Amino acid sequence: MKTRRTFSKMKQENEKITMITAYDYPSAKLSAEAEIDMILVGDSLGMVVLGYDSTIPVTVDDMIHHGKAVRRGAPDTFTVIDMPFMSFNVSKEDTLKNAKRIFQETGAQALKLEGGKDVAPTIELLTKAGIPVVAHVGLTPQTFNVLGGYRVQGKSEEEAERLLNDAIAVQEAGAISLVLECVPSKLAAVITDKIKIPTIGIGAGAECDGQVLVYHDLLQYGVERLAKFVKPYGDLNNSSKESIEKYVEEVKKGTFPSEEHTYSIDEDALKGLYG
Ligand code: KIV
Ligand code: NA
Repeated sequence: MKTRRTFSKMKQENEKITMITAYDYPSAKLSAEAEIDMILVGDSLGMVVLGYDSTIPVTVDDMIHHGKAVRRGAPDTFTVIDMPFMSFNVSKEDTLKNAKRIFQETGAQALKLEGGKDVAPTIELLTKAGIPVVAHVGLTPQTFNVLGGYRVQGKSEEEAERLLNDAIAVQEAGAISLVLECVPSKLAAVITDKIKIPTIGIGAGAECDGQVLVYHDLLQYGVERLAKFVKPYGDLNNSSKESIEKYVEEVKKGTFPSEEHTYSIDEDALKGLYG
């Protein structure tokens, strides 16, 4: 199992860190077989797996349910699980209770939470309790209502400075890594250079220490629109649809199941049944 030390070393040695989201047994298993460095059970599961139109409805129970399946599929892969909307940075008691449940019940290696300076005390609280935290700044989908939509963050001098300060604050609070989402590549490069913990980018250019993509985006599986920063490496939409159409057609025509997919029995064994 890789550890936070492996990832620090990778940063120091300029070896890129690969991360992908996974939400269930097969996606985790395939990702592990492809030798991904880290898995994220993202709350994006609310959208790509559960069909909500944002990550806001996702619950702690949802994260545990999917997190456990992922751990069964990739028991030897460093797995990070998102704390969902309003499950952290509430009261200390509730934050600890939720974090404890997700961490303990899934056996994950770290939890991720969105936010910069504002969540630094929470990052410190969890770290001191023994739960490693991955931070997430830039476009933070749980607060898109506050941000005014899904858009690139850190474009003005003021926003860029705030993002850098957020990155430093989460590092000082004990975060083991930082996800940078939807920030200009040059700003991501500066942040990556100024902090010691590895940065993992999504829509943040090539100079981050690692990259993360959403499984269903990368494979084009059930998603219709891809953001600018997604490169589709697969086309499961078309291959899945074609396979299902073929199945429907063959059942209708009576060509499936054929002999090949059917069990046989000695005719004599059926004699009594006609009586
Ligand atoms: O939920 C998620 O998939 C994420 C990644 C986009 C970083 O948080
Ligand atoms: Na997320």
